[in-house]
Amino acid sequence: MIYTKKQLELMMLWKKNKLKRLNILEGSVSSGKTWISLVLWGFWVATMPSDKLYLMCGKSLTTLKRNCLIPLEELFGTDNFTFSTSAKEAYLFGRLILLEGANDARSESKIRGLTLQGAYCDELTLFPEDFFVMLLSRLRVPGAKLIATTNPDSPEHWLKKKYIDRKSELNMLSIRFLLDDNTTLDPEYIQAVKAEYSGVFYNRFILGEWAIAEGLIYPQFNKDLHVVSNYKPSKDAIYYISIDYGTVNPCSMGLWALEDDKAVRIKEHYYNSKKQGDRRTDEEHYQSLVELAKGYDIYQVIVDPSAASFISCIRKHGDFVVRSANNSVIDGVRTTGTLLSQGRLLFSDTCKDSIREFSLYRWDEEKPEDTVIKENDHAMDDIRYFCYTILKFHYWLDE
Ligand SMILES: Nc1ncnc2c1ncn2[C@@H]1O[C@H](COP(=O)(O)OP(=O)(O)O)[C@@H](O)[C@H]1O
Ligand SMILES: [Mg+2]
Repeated sequence: MIYTKKQLELMMLWKKNKLKRLNILEGSVSSGKTWISLVLWGFWVATMPSDKLYLMCGKSLTTLKRNCLIPLEELFGTDNFTFSTSAKEAYLFGRLILLEGANDARSESKIRGLTLQGAYCDELTLFPEDFFVMLLSRLRVPGAKLIATTNPDSPEHWLKKKYIDRKSELNMLSIRFLLDDNTTLDPEYIQAVKAEYSGVFYNRFILGEWAIAEGLIYPQFNKDLHVVSNYKPSKDAIYYISIDYGTVNPCSMGLWALEDDKAVRIKEHYYNSKKQGDRRTDEEHYQSLVELAKGYDIYQVIVDPSAASFISCIRKHGDFVVRSANNSVIDGVRTTGTLLSQGRLLFSDTCKDSIREFSLYRWDEEKPEDTVIKENDHAMDDIRYFCYTILKFHYWLDE
């Protein structure tokens, strides 16, 4: 194994017995945190008693498996590490390791009675605070340690305010890794990763800063780059429509041509009942959908998951395959931002309401956690539904 300079620094702390009870590796994406945390975890566990209990947890068991268990197997080989996510157990150098997903139902009650020698946490900011508090209370054996990795979040995040900012009082170490520290990566790849982020996500995931979400949500939107005129879809394009439903609020629909390398919003329909003065029924909204789809073979219609009556109205007509959208706001915003930064999301110049909302859609700076202002967000929502429900998988974007 060859360490980067930064990784070696961490390993030297361990060698010199300078690790603390809580050890947090924070910083940019792809900076080598997870890789070295797993090396350290493996070597450390191997030196600890084999009759004690250990725990590894991620946001869910699925992400834990992908981010940590499979890489651990590659690092130490199946002679030294085996796991079963169905049994929620692993063996690392003969030590029993329990596996948990921090967000899985009842995970907190599962760890309630344990006494742990060591715990490993992947992507700690994504854990519920209660789970982490419970976990700390379980590290009761002398010399017990926690090793965790995380990307930064808001400066108001519980992990930053209650732990990292108080590390001198807490027997805690935090060490920051930056993308440029990862000398195992090709510089061209590093450039490509940097180009994927803008705004607050650039500050957090590239600069490694605990940054507030402020200003425009999509500062990377640029008419010169993202708006096209007279776009002609290729013959292989697949068509989708995404919908943010509203009765009192505006109802926004976009027609997308999905190509190999990009998705283009070729037309949109935006109905503002307040402005236009009359509220429409589901049936009337359905007619607008039919109008928007005219001349195109629509593969799927992606709809606001809360619009139950409209979804059943579309189903009843039987002309479209309808899917309810994934409405995780912040994850969806991040995916949409990445697609914009990659130049994979384009808009026809006729999509006036999308273009208008891009210049207005903002973060709520009064709120401690990342919160969007729920104004000028109707086209923004239907775009996000499409990006997070369809494009994320189509272009293999990370979670
Ligand atoms: N010392 C190393 N030797 C070989 N590959 C490494 C090393 N450190 C990191 N990597 C690789 O670099 C990439 C990013 O590292 P990772 O630990 O996943 O970053 P982070 O957790 O900071 O996002 C991964 O593909 C990882 O395998
Ligand atoms: Mg990682």
